[in-house]
Amino acid sequence: MKKTLITNIGCLQTPVGSYSHKGSKQGLNEKYINSEVIIEDGLIKEITENGKSNKADFDQVIDAGGKLVTPGLVDGHTHLVFGGYRQHELAMKIAGAGYLDILRAGGGILDTVRKTRDASEEELYNKSSAFLDEMLGFGITTCEVKSGYGLTMDSELKMLRVIKAMKENHKMDVVPTFMGAHAIPPEYEGRGDEYIDFLCEEMIPEIRKQGLAEFCDIFCEEAVFDAEQSRKYMTAARNEGFDLKIHADEIEAIGGTELAGEMEATSAEHLIAIKEDGMDALAKGGTTAMCLPATSFYLGASYAPARKMVEKGIPVAIASDYNPGSCPSLNLQLAINLGCLKYRLTPEEVLTAVTINPACAINRGDLVGTVEPGKQADLVIWNAPDFEMVCYRFGSNLADKVIKKGELI
Ligand code: NIG
Ligand code: FE
Repeated sequence: MKKTLITNIGCLQTPVGSYSHKGSKQGLNEKYINSEVIIEDGLIKEITENGKSNKADFDQVIDAGGKLVTPGLVDGHTHLVFGGYRQHELAMKIAGAGYLDILRAGGGILDTVRKTRDASEEELYNKSSAFLDEMLGFGITTCEVKSGYGLTMDSELKMLRVIKAMKENHKMDVVPTFMGAHAIPPEYEGRGDEYIDFLCEEMIPEIRKQGLAEFCDIFCEEAVFDAEQSRKYMTAARNEGFDLKIHADEIEAIGGTELAGEMEATSAEHLIAIKEDGMDALAKGGTTAMCLPATSFYLGASYAPARKMVEKGIPVAIASDYNPGSCPSLNLQLAINLGCLKYRLTPEEVLTAVTINPACAINRGDLVGTVEPGKQADLVIWNAPDFEMVCYRFGSNLADKVIKKGELI
């Protein structure tokens, strides 16, 4: 048995429990002052008072130097497997083109689809694994990854195999989502219904058969998939045993959040344009609001009403949405800053939003997301005395040391 001691922790701040936190509980964090954490075989064994343990009893002793320790961050929404980049869209944006204008002109997601189809599996694996390395450096120890830049049977399977290979080989814990309904591929232009039928009848069953994803996600948006198409896709996915996610109310509210709540989707993503009815539906369905503030920042859009959603009793999570179009940043610390500044969440509410709530929204709440006995020993030692400092400083990487399954990265 390998025993590790993290000693000299100035402040250990963590939510508690294996369930998502909502309403007045969103900001419930435990704060241990001057503590140490005992780890055995990659799992948290005990939290004790600093100085209580005998260092000689341990194989590894990590000195936290009196700093802040939190659970490893969980990024519950990424599109980090993609071919090429889209830096040329920046000039179009500056000239005034909107996100959907670029997509309608055959660019945007479809540009990345072309580049992803052209990329080899090895190329995608190497590029995506490097992103995971970078994310670990920012304190992210678990993340969700979506397919959705292939949009053919072969290229979606290729993306999902890349995600599976990372799940098996990379230190990061990776949770795979199938997002074949990310855009209407050029082969199906003007035939969205037929593409949805293809996804429901062929792709979803095949992905289930190969065991390549845990969730299915769809982009329910004006000029992409409407609420009825989304309902059909989500029903087919549920019937095959997948849990559900939906990109809803990002630009226009066309019924995606109402559908998410009604179908008790695990999470609904974006929610910038969400209305009262949509919020009521999410609260009723127990659906987590996966808010993506760095995307609002990058699109120059408004911000999802996260403060209001907390008050309505919806569990709120904050994720990066890392992708080559609407958010080319994988720095979840930036989303933390925006969670306070733009969503008006407290640091405690934000910590919950980047740890236990996203962990639950990717079905990993019993494994990660808090520092408690029995959970995986995924922790971050911060160059900060408290989490307020992490919320306040921006633009620097404040993660000092990252510990994954008890090992220093
Ligand atoms: O979540 N909105 C849809 N999908 C991604 C963006 C994908 C892209 O632009 O490449 C998102 O923001
Ligand atoms: Fe997304």
